[in-house]
Amino acid sequence: MQLNNKRMEQLKSDLKSLKVEAKLEIEKAEDLAKLNQVFKKYLGKEGEITRVLRSLGSIPKQNRMKVGREANELKNFLEKKIEEKKSSFVKTMENRKDWLDVTLPGKKPVLGHLHPLTQVRKKTEEIFQMMGFSVVEGPEIENEWYNFDALNIPKDHPARDLWDTFYLKLKDRQLLRTHTSPNQVRYMEKHQPPLRMIVPGNVFRHEATDFRHEFQLFQVEGLMVDKDISVPNFKAIIGEFFRRFFEKEVQFRLRPDFFPFTEPSFDISMTCLVCKGRGCSACKKTGWLEVAGAGMVHPNVFKNSGLDPKEWKGWAFGFGLDRLAMMKYKINDIRLLRSGDLRFLQQF
Ligand code: PHE
Repeated sequence: MQLNNKRMEQLKSDLKSLKVEAKLEIEKAEDLAKLNQVFKKYLGKEGEITRVLRSLGSIPKQNRMKVGREANELKNFLEKKIEEKKSSFVKTMENRKDWLDVTLPGKKPVLGHLHPLTQVRKKTEEIFQMMGFSVVEGPEIENEWYNFDALNIPKDHPARDLWDTFYLKLKDRQLLRTHTSPNQVRYMEKHQPPLRMIVPGNVFRHEATDFRHEFQLFQVEGLMVDKDISVPNFKAIIGEFFRRFFEKEVQFRLRPDFFPFTEPSFDISMTCLVCKGRGCSACKKTGWLEVAGAGMVHPNVFKNSGLDPKEWKGWAFGFGLDRLAMMKYKINDIRLLRSGDLRFLQQF
């Protein structure tokens, strides 16, 4: 009995001094590796505390409980201390500017994508190229000859009012082209028919903006010249273009219109795809949206381009690409396209 009591007292004092020792070592540990060593020394499989717990079997039951409880308390106490110290390490590491947690999932780089107008332009170019059309470009700063005169729009003709023009304070009354049609003349001056071409590009108009109007537009001019060119031929090409562009059958109609550089002239409207023809802000509640002007090339335009109107026939069109984009993506306000609003753009 005497001996057992002594044994118990021994274990208790062991625990006391282990506590002091271990606490000190935990405090002193300056990195994780050291801390792990301390853990192993006291709480590991072969550790001091474990040793005390194991030797409990050698003392009588009534004392065993008491010492066991103390040993377990010490064990919990040290575990807690070690955890605390560990998290303080992590905290100070995180506070260091150059600290890098390599276990964090990586940040995805933000990838941009093509603007809806660019997507629509590319698609249009692709379709016409497949039908044998060349894609060409022309200047955004034009002169009055190409923008108006050569297109059969004389100086005093009221038709000039159709295109509200931005004139530049440069020599020779240069201007921002109001349409891509000047390129009909530019192209025919340099190329001998038969010819087929399109000209995509920005055009500018001095006008108030609303749901369907912008002062900067994206047009695609088209021109086909050959011996036997007719309106049905034009309709077939446009129908095919719509089919491939919208990837389905869409209804469109030609109605008589007036342009000085085409005769006869017509406008092309299509069923509004935003409201499926029911009527909405995009189509001014009519169910139809004008998407292009077109017609058979006027003899004077041939003449002004150096071609004989008796020899050649042709048709031309000018599509508003913004409007095609509105139809394709069901956008009910043309102004969104150039708003630069990422919430809008990220949808495409
Ligand atoms: N240039 C005309 C416009 O901008 C459209 C058009 C092009 C009409 C070609 C006829 C032929 O309104």
